[in-house]
Amino acid sequence: MPIIETLAAAGGELGRALMNATTTPLLHKYRAVKYRRHPAAVPQTLSWDWSGKRNRIALVNLLGHDRIEGDYLEIGCDRDELFDAVAVANRVGVDPNRGGTIRLESDQFFATDRRKFDVIWIDGLHTYDQIRRDVMNSIRSLKPGGWVGIHDLLPRNWVEAYSPRLYPEGAWSGDVWKVAFELIRTEGVDFRIVNIDRGIGVFHLTAHDAQLVDLRHELEPATFAYMHANVGKLPVIEWADAHAWILEAKRSDGGAAK
Ligand SMILES: C[S@@+](CC[C@H](N)C(=O)[O-])C[C@H]1O[C@@H](n2cnc3c(N)ncnc32)[C@H](O)[C@@H]1O
Repeated sequence: MPIIETLAAAGGELGRALMNATTTPLLHKYRAVKYRRHPAAVPQTLSWDWSGKRNRIALVNLLGHDRIEGDYLEIGCDRDELFDAVAVANRVGVDPNRGGTIRLESDQFFATDRRKFDVIWIDGLHTYDQIRRDVMNSIRSLKPGGWVGIHDLLPRNWVEAYSPRLYPEGAWSGDVWKVAFELIRTEGVDFRIVNIDRGIGVFHLTAHDAQLVDLRHELEPATFAYMHANVGKLPVIEWADAHAWILEAKRSDGGAAK
């Protein structure tokens, strides 16, 4: 019996340690074996590799570099790893559990807070319906020329992409990726996915009244097999192209929607 299968069957400390690791190929193999009889299990994988690349901190600071005295909102802050590294002057962090500055869920925050922001980072609950609401509320809460970042848009396998979460610790992308297929079809939104740090969606508005397209009938039942089959439709770009795109958009019109 191969070692991975033995570990998966036995569980125990080593099994648990493997489950809590985040990036190793061994971990992916372990999870694939452990959950192979799950009804949502599919064999396809995507081989994103972010080692040696820039991360979300670099990207958020790039998005805010020309609004350094402006306003930043982070949805989902956790240990403040990003929040504490953001150079934009006025920071609001919303998290019901820990980190940031406001102890609320994002829906509660957006229901009562009418402030506008230069940069918004979405990284709260990683489910499709929640991300849809966070994206729609963020569009409404952007200042002219503002930018939005969305974490975890490039899962590598069905376990990472599955919602609800299957394992308690470590990285989980959930089905946040589904909103990318709506953003590519939304008028008035200039959207790309930067291939760094688990995949970061970035957009700014080209029309101030942009409305997120509703493809829930198609995407709610979709599994990772849909992502795998359609990933070629997504505007995935590398850091250098993202850098050039963001700077050019900011230069040409200040990024401001018409
Ligand atoms: C992946 S962590 C955020 C990591 C952080 N943004 C960073 O880059 O280091 C996700 C966080 O979202 C929070 N969260 C869960 N549900 C939420 C919700 N409905 N609204 C806002 N935050 C939520 C969790 O408490 C958790 O701290």
